[in-house]
Amino acid sequence: TRNGLDFAVADLGAAEFGRKEIRLAEHEMPGLMALRREHAEAYPLRGARISGSLHMTVQTAVLIETLVALGAEVRWASCNIFSTQDHAAAAVVVGPHGTPEEPRGVPVFAWKGETLSEYWWCTERMLTWQGEGPTGSDDRTPRSGPNMILDDGGDATMLVHKGAEFERAGVVPTPETDDPEEYKVFLELLRNSLEADRSRWTRIGEGVKGVTEETTTGVLRLYQLAAQGELLFPAINVNDSVTKSKFDNRYGIRHSLIDGINRGTDVLMGGKVAVVCGYGDVGKGAADSLAGQGARVIVTEIDPICALQAQMDGYQVKTLESALPEADIVITTTGNKDVVMVEQMARMKHQTIVGNIGHFDNELDMAGLARYPGIRRENIKPQVDEWIFPDGHSILVLSEGRLLNLGNATGHPSFVMSNSFSNQVIAQVELFTKNAEYDREVYRLPKKLDEHVARIHVQALGGELTKLTKEQAEYIDVDVVGPYKPDHYRY
Ligand code: NAI
Repeated sequence: TRNGLDFAVADLGAAEFGRKEIRLAEHEMPGLMALRREHAEAYPLRGARISGSLHMTVQTAVLIETLVALGAEVRWASCNIFSTQDHAAAAVVVGPHGTPEEPRGVPVFAWKGETLSEYWWCTERMLTWQGEGPTGSDDRTPRSGPNMILDDGGDATMLVHKGAEFERAGVVPTPETDDPEEYKVFLELLRNSLEADRSRWTRIGEGVKGVTEETTTGVLRLYQLAAQGELLFPAINVNDSVTKSKFDNRYGIRHSLIDGINRGTDVLMGGKVAVVCGYGDVGKGAADSLAGQGARVIVTEIDPICALQAQMDGYQVKTLESALPEADIVITTTGNKDVVMVEQMARMKHQTIVGNIGHFDNELDMAGLARYPGIRRENIKPQVDEWIFPDGHSILVLSEGRLLNLGNATGHPSFVMSNSFSNQVIAQVELFTKNAEYDREVYRLPKKLDEHVARIHVQALGGELTKLTKEQAEYIDVDVVGPYKPDHYRY
């Protein structure tokens, strides 16, 4: 704690560099800056206590400061152990008007290279609100939790839900021996927290008005909770705004996948064979990215529609098994588990680059790799490991199988994140200010708002939109001012 602010970041001394990069990013994030102007006097998030779990990057710093500009109080953690940019985290804590000695920003709990237990500690701190609301605000009630969650991948939401579930059942969580390490560490934190307070997560669940979720994997978890009738509060699926998944997941990956491979390995991709597992939004961006470097791309898919799309885009579709002998680079983008197993890694060519860009590391059989008889791990540099098999051949694994674009590089660039984060801000305002209109379900933002986000970015790039005439609008049965497509349209 410094200057009344609790936080845990690597080095506040990096704040000045962080602030410079935030300033440059603001210009590249016209959507967020437009939202600041639009709401300049209304402070729609006044009274909101937002706990955020999302990669603590420069772009996220601009998101956080937009939420603050709209009146919110915010606490933040990263949703991945490797994704924090330490200078961005420091700058957010210091704030635009503070100094490292007298920070005046937002409590952030994140640094690059957390251990799993540190990760869950950060998530727990981010959800812990103490004291009273700020002097001068309407909210002077003592509080122990957030009233809004902003999530990426659903870990914060899961902590609250699992905690409340154990409290209802009155049992103490005990890990099974074959539980994944990640889950064991999570249960450990939960057990300690339940021993200290038996109703904490239930109270937090009751206090939260809603969650806005950033990514495909987190959204899947929310729909599962809603289907079981277990969702504790309303949720907005930000991922499936068109201006999110069709841009960030695709064009963001097109930029940041090769950025991660380059920074991690500096291997020339041209002429190599790259296998992309999954051809959804992320897979499409990944294939495009690798093909752009001159790699020959092979796609694996389970869904014939996506497989056919890959073929139409000029890629070969194969199973991983039959692509393995040729592969120089293997990238998973599925959001599924067990996509590349250790037996397959053992059969790869010498120094094949293996990486995952889907949300969780279980796409790659990292546990199996670590247990492989006679395997040796040689760390080359942070987030790059050579795993040497007993026969002497090796593979290069990026970011220990976690999102390599954020682990080995700096994630997606500002402009594309401006689209995603504009949807986040709009969703936070929507759930916070119109809470009574939402049940414990998962919602998407109306298309009009999606079009609004797109329009800002089209204009920022100097695009000229054609205006419909009244007659044309009637002919195609839409309103002159939109929305321009029915909800079932797929883009
Ligand atoms: P999506 O659902 O559009 O695509 C996933 C594709 O993988 C689907 O087409 C599915 O049929 C295919 N698939 C599933 N199991 C497979 C298997 N065993 N083998 C081959 N293909 C398989 O999802 P989206 O939006 O592309 O997201 C994918 C993952 O990436 C999610 O975990 C998401 O959270 C994450 N993500 C990561 C980002 C990053 O910055 N690294 C950015 C956005 C999303």
